[in-house]
Order: sequence, then C-alpha cells, then structure tokens
Amino acid sequence: DLLTPKTHHLEGQHWVITAGPTQEAIDPVRYISNHSSGKMGYAIAAAAAQHGATVTLISGPVALPVPAGVKRVSVKSAQEMLYACRVACANNADVFIGAAAVADFRMKEVANQKMKKQQDSNELQLTLVKNPDIIATLAQEGAAKCMVGFAAETQDVVGYAKDKLQRKGLDLIIANDVSQAGIGFNSDQNQVTIISASDQWTSEQASKSTIAQRIIEHIHQFQLTQST
Ligand code: CTP
Ligand code: CA
Repeated sequence: DLLTPKTHHLEGQHWVITAGPTQEAIDPVRYISNHSSGKMGYAIAAAAAQHGATVTLISGPVALPVPAGVKRVSVKSAQEMLYACRVACANNADVFIGAAAVADFRMKEVANQKMKKQQDSNELQLTLVKNPDIIATLAQEGAAKCMVGFAAETQDVVGYAKDKLQRKGLDLIIANDVSQAGIGFNSDQNQVTIISASDQWTSEQASKSTIAQRIIEHIHQFQLTQST
C-alpha cells in the first residue's frame, strides 16, 4: 500500500504542517532565532499536496517559494505560530506535522525602543521565558487525528526522541541526528528514524524530497492501521 508520487491517496484530507524557524523579538531591530532553513517541512508540504491533500503550511521566516497547491500562512514568533495552527486545525485536521524549529524561549519583555549600550558595563543580561510547546498543546487539544513531531538531537537520538513522543502525546516522531555534517539543518540531504510507540524504521540518506515521500508513506500506513 505504499504511495507512489502523484497518486491521490490523500484526497479529502487536511494536513497542517509547521516549518522554518521562529523569530522572537528583542527590540524593534533585533531578534532571537535559529538556523532552520524550512526545507524539510516545505518538502513534506509539497509531497502531501502532490498526493491530493489540502495542505496548510504555517511557516516562520524562510527564503523558500510556496510549493504548488499549498496554502502558506506566514508567522514570526512561536505565539503567532500556535495561534495560526489553532485556526488551521479548527475543524480537526487529519494530520499535524511539527517540522518547525520553534524557539524554546522569548523575551520576558520586548523593548519598545532600540536598546542602547550602557557605557559603564561590558555585560548585558536578557531575561527569557519559555515559549508554549506548540505540538504538545495541540495534541492535548485533539487538534488532529495524527500528530507527528520532529526531534533534532546531537546525542542518544532515538532515546530522546522516544521521550518526546511520550511526553508530547504524539503518534509518530521523526528523529534526526544533527551532529552529522551534511544532513539535517540547512542541508539538502537528510536521514531520519521514524518512531511510533511500537515500531521504528531508519531511512536511507537521501534528498529531502525523497525523505518527505518516506515520511508520508509512514503516516499513511499509520492511518491505515488506525482505520482497521
Ligand atoms: N516544538 C513545539 N513547540 C516548542 C518546541 C518544540 O511545537 N515550543 C515541537 C517541534 O516542532 C518538534 C518537537 O516539538 O516537532 C520537538 O522539538 P525539540 O526542539 O526537539 O524539542 P523540545 O521539547 O524543545 O526539547 P529540547 O529542545 O530541549 O531538546
Ligand atoms: Ca527545542
């Protein structure tokens, strides 16, 4: 029952996918962010649309075009991303995929004016507070029938990923080892391990579009086991 490209197995389904980094303002001209390129999330969105799904892509700031047949909603901060996800999932989505690299912290208070250097100090302290956990919040709210997370790790990749699967209440988690040069963050290539409560499977190292295809096949298989 594997999907071949450009079949229409996902027709009638609504997939909501997050991608890219979030940007957390420090003041009107500065922000906290990370190096996520958005390529993996965009590749999954493109592939899901090719298979006939209605796709809403909630995207942080990235330098990528909107994939064919995909509706993009552009956001900056994690709080904006959570709000946009709730709106997109309002009618209960079939699949939610959290491919965004959400900033874990934001400024406790954003400065209204550009911050100035203090002449008498060589240090600056910023107070940060935790951002909401978007995917865990949505899982708890029952936002989608199938909740899929990512886990980018530099050590004990499968161990940490399984912990996140459980803690965030997800159906599947896609683990990748970001300590290896040439795959993951910012690269065009990736290699992932897809983990459910009972199974795990490791992909070949391949282009992000091939990996996107594998991820969609696994989600589709999960849906088939849920409906029988
Ligand atoms: N995630 C999220 N909201 C956050 C942080 C993470 O929705 N505030 C999602 C990511 O999109 C990803 C999954 O949770 O699907 C795992 O993200 P990750 O950063 O690996 O997990 P954290 O829980 O933030 O743990 P840590 O960064 O401490 O490893
Ligand atoms: Ca994190």
